[in-house]
Amino acid sequence: MPVVVVVGGQWGDEGKGRIVDLLARKARVVARYSAGNNAGHTIVNERGEFKLHLVPAGIFYPEKTCLIGNGVAVDPEVLLAEIAQLESRGIDTSKLAVSDRAHVVMPWHRLIDRLDEEQRGDEAIGTTGRGIGPCFADKVARRGVRVADLLENEDLIPRMRSVLTYQNRVITGVYGGEPLDFDECYEQYREYGRQLRPFVADTQTIVVDALRDGDYVLLEGAQGSLLDLDHGTYEYVTSSVPSSTAGGATLGIGIGPTDVQRAVGVFKSYCTRVGNGAFPTELFDETAARLRDHGKDFGRGEYGTTTGRPRRIGWFDAVAARYSVRFNGLSALALTRLDVLDGLPALKLCTGYSVDGGVLQTMPASTSALNRIKPIYEELPGWDEPTTGVRTFDDLPTQAQVYVRRVETLLGVPVDLISVGPEREQAIIVNPIF
Ligand code: IMP
Ligand code: MG
Repeated sequence: MPVVVVVGGQWGDEGKGRIVDLLARKARVVARYSAGNNAGHTIVNERGEFKLHLVPAGIFYPEKTCLIGNGVAVDPEVLLAEIAQLESRGIDTSKLAVSDRAHVVMPWHRLIDRLDEEQRGDEAIGTTGRGIGPCFADKVARRGVRVADLLENEDLIPRMRSVLTYQNRVITGVYGGEPLDFDECYEQYREYGRQLRPFVADTQTIVVDALRDGDYVLLEGAQGSLLDLDHGTYEYVTSSVPSSTAGGATLGIGIGPTDVQRAVGVFKSYCTRVGNGAFPTELFDETAARLRDHGKDFGRGEYGTTTGRPRRIGWFDAVAARYSVRFNGLSALALTRLDVLDGLPALKLCTGYSVDGGVLQTMPASTSALNRIKPIYEELPGWDEPTTGVRTFDDLPTQAQVYVRRVETLLGVPVDLISVGPEREQAIIVNPIF
């Protein structure tokens, strides 16, 4: 059962893409299983820098099969553009396949995403505006259009007609927007269907075949676990069904929980969040600005890959992280961007939440309680020496070792991998994950 799941442990942008890129070496199949092009991975390798939104990060290894599983919301325009861009830069996409069961992001999803955010006003979620929430809402409401439908006119025409009739009532009646034109939408999506056809496959069978042969399958999460519909800071969460947590991985690709061998959680050495919602350890001082703009001139600052929004910054939240370790069943941690902390005089780790005079060791459910959290910090000394050139744990500055070990102790899971820069080799393998 050699399946390894990689998930983001915080609010997204933990550096999953680069960890998947490293771990993909051993895998035969690399698959995305949830979310859509709200996700954004930045990957730097010998061919330069790539930003991926739908294609799995394994695509840079020509012999790997890369899958977009049934759990992903696929925007065909974005996927086709991503494929074209990869091909134009010499990356072979012939081993990429998209599930025929995946749901399709339709024009009304993007429109409703925007209109709904406008209507929420001050209570806006701060979505990426990619139509992902409305697409998954339609999936659950049994009003979705799937990749398989794009290939069958007999299914596509009546489906699109009835769904668009309904959605136009919502667009005009609920939001006061302009209705969409059926013929225009239909022609466009029929053409997407034609272009996507060579990539469409029964992805579940591809995964099951690899498992039967005893080969490794790497399941790549998108977004962070704390954006999960059930366990995240509701309603400031993302709407992926199945969720991007380790539990969602099996549903989103079509295997069972007993097939999964390991779940690796990727955590940034501090915290970031884009969009609105509770963020107990958020910082507003010069430390936040310093961490946000670290490496900005090299495109490495804390600005969203998908939207370019500045990310909110905070200290590492061990309470939230431990919660995430538990609901994901994590067996290993990958700690990213440790080098961003180089040169800070002191570091803080949040080890408890003080709420209304009591101390909580896990995240409360209610939005108002989340907003009343006063983080309890433990302070650790920083280090001056740069870590970007370090390749073994023992060569890290002593205080950096202490910091990593403390995170490990607080979370109760070993740190198997540490990244100290964006390049493939800027990583410390503490214990081999495969
Ligand atoms: P949506 O997924 O576009 O509906 O956005 C819902 C929330 O999830 C917003 O706070 C987004 O900023 C956040 N979000 C969605 N995808 C990502 C991601 O890939 N990285 C970080 N935040 C994300
Ligand atoms: Mg991202």
